[in-house]
Amino acid sequence: MSGKDGSSGPDERSEDAESVIRRDRFSGGPARDFLSSLAADERIFAADIAVDRAHVVMLAETGVLEDADAAAILAALDEVEDAGHAALPDGEDVHEAIETAVIERVGPDGGRMHTARSRNDEVATCIRYRLRADLLDALSTVLEAREVLLEVAEEERETIAPGYTHLQPAQPTTVGHWLASYEAALARDTGRLLDAYDRTNRSPLGGAAFAGTTFPIDRERTAELLGFDGIVRNSMDAAAGRDALLESVAALTGVAITCSGLAEDLIIFANRGFVDLDDDYSSTSSIMPQKKNPDTLELVRAVSGDASAGLNGLLTTLKGLPRAYNRDLQRATPHVWETVDAVTETGAVAAGAVATAEWNDDALADAAGEGFSTATGVADLLAAEGVPFRTAHEIVAEAAEGADGTPGYETLDAAARAILGESLAAYVEQETVESALDPVASVAARDSVGGPAPDALAADLEAASEELTADHDAVSERRDALAEADETLRTEVASYG
Ligand code: ARG
Repeated sequence: MSGKDGSSGPDERSEDAESVIRRDRFSGGPARDFLSSLAADERIFAADIAVDRAHVVMLAETGVLEDADAAAILAALDEVEDAGHAALPDGEDVHEAIETAVIERVGPDGGRMHTARSRNDEVATCIRYRLRADLLDALSTVLEAREVLLEVAEEERETIAPGYTHLQPAQPTTVGHWLASYEAALARDTGRLLDAYDRTNRSPLGGAAFAGTTFPIDRERTAELLGFDGIVRNSMDAAAGRDALLESVAALTGVAITCSGLAEDLIIFANRGFVDLDDDYSSTSSIMPQKKNPDTLELVRAVSGDASAGLNGLLTTLKGLPRAYNRDLQRATPHVWETVDAVTETGAVAAGAVATAEWNDDALADAAGEGFSTATGVADLLAAEGVPFRTAHEIVAEAAEGADGTPGYETLDAAARAILGESLAAYVEQETVESALDPVASVAARDSVGGPAPDALAADLEAASEELTADHDAVSERRDALAEADETLRTEVASYG
């Protein structure tokens, strides 16, 4: 075995040195930088070291590698890891560069590391290994955002607020109900991220170039050492498949879209004086000294554009690719990193903006009654007291037309006489109608499941908080499983030391 003492310099390299030279011949021309993913691969440097370790341990366990060679390669990998990505020799990608760095330290026997695999299954494994950690971080951010939304929703459960359709006053609701609506959306986004995680967390390693290998490898073992829940069985699918990336980016885009709606609402509410954003989440103008602008939220809104671009970039790159491996796939990967980074950051910023915002109860209450927002409640009341809903709708519409703002009882009664031919009093007491005209009473009356009535919302917040706890557990379980596998791999590697 050649030592890791550096005795085997480039001159002494035989077979593997030749292959390095051959690679240089093919990728050393003017397109060298164009071909190389080495810089972008920094993202999967640690993943590649872990994948190399698991592969080498498995090769030794199955007798494909001599223990001494495995030990030398594993020791070299420690050095390569310590030196870091920036210290890697030049190469077409991180996989080639790490292999070269190992051969530089071990000598030609270092080239045994690449037995029974290809860069195709290697890169697919590295991407999944890294992405699952990023997905867990994205998930944790989304869970924190949900926590904030539920907390503030509880605080603002009784804070009457205007509700809009077509950006026009529609029906009064509460700030809590509005916040809980975004929490519910993020809960579904969480489910999609967890699904994406579970399909991402499968090992393609051992699929080799796409066609499997003659060596008696143990794919389940490398999967286990790397913390994957199982393998991507078909070797061609293993090397070629990128749908787990697509699913992950789609789930992340869902989060971005949810956050963009939340941000847009907050921008509008701040503009109308309903809410004061904390200075930390605002920006000023370089020329207009009086300005306090909701810039962070505008950026949150814009990140949905980045995410959508990432998703489309990925979709367009993957569309129509023939089996099994094509270099197009190299350019698919950065879309994933860009999207997961942007979305994770945006989730945290959106949550921070909500957590620190101050709600202006008076402005909200004034606006909640604007534009005869209680009209539907009055029509509902008449319908509940025996007037057919369509007729009730007509009566209230007629009253609304004649009134400046919210009509009083007299106007409603006049409309009823004109349309029904009898007084409202035949159906309902004046006091009850007047109560329905009040935004606070109007909200309290809408206590159907999922409705804005403070009591109904209290029940929903409790259910949502239970669901959140279950999702926290789901994320913790996955984190623990990864940490455990990491420990196992560390122990196995150490046994060769
Ligand atoms: N850098 C490549 C990628 O990201 C690694 C796989 C290269 N495989 C190949 N057959 N050229 O896809």
